[in-house]
Amino acid sequence: MSKNIIEVEHLTRTFSIGDMTVRALRDVTLEVAGGDFVAIMGASGSGKSTLMNILGCLDRPTSGIYRLDGVEVNGLGRDQLAEIRNRKLGFVFQQFNLLPRTSALENVQLPLLYRDDAVPDARERAMQALAAVGLADRADHTPNQLSGGQQQRVAIARALVNDPQMVLADEPTGALDSRTSVEIMGILQRLNRERGITTVMVTHEPDIAEYANRQLYFRDGQILRDEKVARPREARREIALWDQRADRTADALSSATGLR
Ligand SMILES: Nc1ncnc2c1ncn2[C@@H]1O[C@H](COP(=O)(O)OP(=O)(O)O)[C@@H](O)[C@H]1O
Ligand SMILES: [Mg+2]
Repeated sequence: MSKNIIEVEHLTRTFSIGDMTVRALRDVTLEVAGGDFVAIMGASGSGKSTLMNILGCLDRPTSGIYRLDGVEVNGLGRDQLAEIRNRKLGFVFQQFNLLPRTSALENVQLPLLYRDDAVPDARERAMQALAAVGLADRADHTPNQLSGGQQQRVAIARALVNDPQMVLADEPTGALDSRTSVEIMGILQRLNRERGITTVMVTHEPDIAEYANRQLYFRDGQILRDEKVARPREARREIALWDQRADRTADALSSATGLR
């Protein structure tokens, strides 16, 4: 068994539109070790989402090899791919992709309903996943009753409910303000470290990429740079510091105004 969860060799993906050909990925070779946290960066159109779709078994390469957890994905049929997506992978998107008019709990339960074996404790598992992102008390809320950050936490809980080996996140903070973005990074870092969930995240924000252990830069469908992050940022430490500062400000305010 290989300890690389991802092994990609000479991957290409070409799209044909009429008589035009777009080479979205050109000869990409890449290994990701199990348990790593990788950020993928690069200009719009550089092939990041195309790679994520292939890594997530949502799309197939035009040529080249993709092994996921030692299994060559190319040879698998639709049902087998769906099974791998459901059992091994969790997905997080920029726009959360939650079902409207559907409670947080039911949204999180959805991947369990798509399995061909019944999951008797589906509700309990969904509750545990919501608790893991700090939203146990919002289980009955529908997406429109939740903030953007809370919706993204529900989406992360949904990605977790099948206990995945790897989470693929395409611009998970792209629709969030900076404080909320750091909170989401805190959750992804904790799941990566405490549960060993391999995380591959696309972002166009350099400061968000600094929470990862490794950064890949794409240009024109190729990996331009591949760098280890010497000291990744620590989201939970930053949040704790903010909270301390906010407490001090509140204390100073209340003593200045005599309100206690
Ligand atoms: N389904 C598709 N059909 C045609 N062209 C596509 C398709 N998906 C992506 N492309 C093209 O492939 C290139 C890479 O796209 P994409 O992977 O979405 O880039 P990124 O996520 O880095 O912005 C772009 O030129 C894009 O227009
Ligand atoms: Mg994209």
